[in-house]
Amino acid sequence: QWTTASIVDEQVARIREQIGDGHAICALSGGVDSAVAGALVQRAIGDRLTCVFVDHGLLRAGERAQVERDFVAATGVRLVTVDARERFLSALAGVTDPEEKRKIIGREFIRVFEQAARDLQAEAGEHGQHYDYLVQGTLYPDVVESGGGTGAANIKSHHNVGGLPEDLDFELVEPLRALFKDEVRRVGTELGLPETIVHRQPFPGPGLGIRIIGEVTAQRLEVLRAADAIAREELTAAGLDRDIWQCPVVLLADVRSVGVQGDGRTYGHPVVLRPVSSEDAMTADWTRLPYDVLERISTRITNEVAEVNRVVLDVTSKPPGTIEWE
Ligand code: XMP
Repeated sequence: QWTTASIVDEQVARIREQIGDGHAICALSGGVDSAVAGALVQRAIGDRLTCVFVDHGLLRAGERAQVERDFVAATGVRLVTVDARERFLSALAGVTDPEEKRKIIGREFIRVFEQAARDLQAEAGEHGQHYDYLVQGTLYPDVVESGGGTGAANIKSHHNVGGLPEDLDFELVEPLRALFKDEVRRVGTELGLPETIVHRQPFPGPGLGIRIIGEVTAQRLEVLRAADAIAREELTAAGLDRDIWQCPVVLLADVRSVGVQGDGRTYGHPVVLRPVSSEDAMTADWTRLPYDVLERISTRITNEVAEVNRVVLDVTSKPPGTIEWE
């Protein structure tokens, strides 16, 4: 009988066994998974855990502030934030292939963490602690869809599974590897994490980088961030957050269409709304959002985001479409 409390106890025991009296850093993404993984490891090894949050510049509006506020308030954990925006942008320059983007983002993530660990060690001095363990919030579906499960095809390299470099400096600690999202949420609640974290909609590690179809640039990120913030605001205002699994907003950066605004011709980019309902992200159905909500989102985005002159709706289930476009 697997109760949530027994999952917590078992994982805490395993983590203690794996890490012994060592030190770990946790790759915090802002999402539920890494938060719960971090909280579990904190329960196991206390202040020998340090969390590292990388601002890769592919975040949504307000995300960094939310992590700095909510997670630290709930856990009291030591949090280090690294500003790596320039580094990721240069690494992604000129890249349009989805798998290549994922691999680059995964690789840069790890490099930034390794640097963060070296910095922490340098700070601790010669006889200070050594950070040998890296905690990641990898879930069972991530393992399966990255081809790590038995007989599964490699659908996408989730940044925390398929994209790790072979010469990794850390031993991985992945306490959620056997769990599905709903179980992870229950574990989070059991560990005392607040609703704002436990019921956050999923957001992929590679962030907005895989929601810009085409090359990722600072300017395109700004456009997408603005459109995404509007969609999220309207969905929240309509009370729909708990009804949908998530609603990616995707910028078709290499597509342009003709529009008319005021008395002028526009030649802007479309964004796609991708609202989905799902139990575990392995399969999903497109969500029948109310027309009035869709209308408000569309009107606001086209009025408020100058570069976007068209909003389209993705009505594809998974399969055949995946949730994210890349
Ligand atoms: P797909 O697009 O594969 O997405 O249908 C399934 C779920 O996983 C999220 N996703 C990711 N999460 N790292 C993550 O942590 C990733 O690389 C990644 N790629 C997709 C996606 O948002 C959806 O909830």
